[in-house]
Amino acid sequence: MSNPWDIKKEDFPVSGLLSDKIKFVLGYAILAPSTHNSQPWLFKIDSNSCKIYYDPKLKLPQADPKGRDLYISLGCMAENIMIASNYFGIFKELKLIFEGTLAVEIVFRENGERNSDLEYLLDTIPRRVNVRGVFEDKTLPDDIGIELLSLNKDQRIRIRFVDDKEKISKIASLTAEGLRMAHGRPIFRQEMSKWMTSSLSSRKDGLPGYSLRMPFLLSFIIPVLVKFFDLSLLLAKLNRISVSSAPLICFIESEKSSPEIWFETGRLAERLMLHLQSKEIMTSIFVASIEIGDLYKKVQEVIGNDLIPQFLFCVGYMNQIQGHSPRHKVEKKIIA
Ligand SMILES: Cc1cc2nc3c(=O)[nH]c(=O)nc-3n(C[C@H](O)[C@H](O)[C@H](O)COP(=O)(O)O)c2cc1C
Repeated sequence: MSNPWDIKKEDFPVSGLLSDKIKFVLGYAILAPSTHNSQPWLFKIDSNSCKIYYDPKLKLPQADPKGRDLYISLGCMAENIMIASNYFGIFKELKLIFEGTLAVEIVFRENGERNSDLEYLLDTIPRRVNVRGVFEDKTLPDDIGIELLSLNKDQRIRIRFVDDKEKISKIASLTAEGLRMAHGRPIFRQEMSKWMTSSLSSRKDGLPGYSLRMPFLLSFIIPVLVKFFDLSLLLAKLNRISVSSAPLICFIESEKSSPEIWFETGRLAERLMLHLQSKEIMTSIFVASIEIGDLYKKVQEVIGNDLIPQFLFCVGYMNQIQGHSPRHKVEKKIIA
């Protein structure tokens, strides 16, 4: 299989070694979203388990000084493992560790009971995409909120929906403010520019121009433009338009912050985004309003709440086709 997105559940090695089954499931893991498409995970496979580390070289000190987006990315990825390994009947236990670069260990078993309720999520993993652009003016199904709420099993984290147009517009303005603040700093732009690539790049990580919906030719010079010029006004405007077009914003919040809470936030976020995508409802992540400086306090005022907003994504219909962003192969992420 040359393209990681072409994974097929029929290829699961039913009579293969457990380590081959674990590797197969990791093929679903790596399709998860990650901040800047940095794919910050590393896997260490033992006879019946897989330890998950983050790669310290892939931290983003400017965009993600606390490491929150790093752990959310690991959580999104681990949720894909949970879905796939439970579907194939090989999941045994998730051990939360969070020591140094080691986050968790997932223990597997040979042949457990398959959970076919997860099939729709498994089938959606290779179809999910983080869309960018303007949402259609189309109402979401009435019961979608209830469905999403039922997917949260962790009492420590809460889902909050914002569908009031005025509040969405204020969050869009705070997103724009976050981008202006971030891109006003040359050191942030320098870090960002390293992750931006042209639409024809052969790199297996980062943000290719097409995934940012950028004109083809512009994608070749944008990394240099971002590095040396302050494009914050333009980027702020584009992001404001996108966020304000969304019929719904979904926040994930908690009382406390810790790597474990961020990891669980990522797990829930991935499950919610997959559930939505399974119904052809698209999602678009925008963390600037909660990540940059103290802007999150203004977000709390808008939504009238004092929990910490850990993650947010916009929800709606968007019928333009956006290609998948690249991924490193599983083998590239396995360490001895
Ligand atoms: C923790 C986290 C934060 C993210 N923040 C943003 C963001 O602020 N703006 C944005 O456009 N995309 C954001 N993304 C989306 C990633 O850029 C996207 O997942 C990645 O490029 C891979 O693309 P894909 O999800 O379509 O496969 C974020 C993703 C994660 C997991």
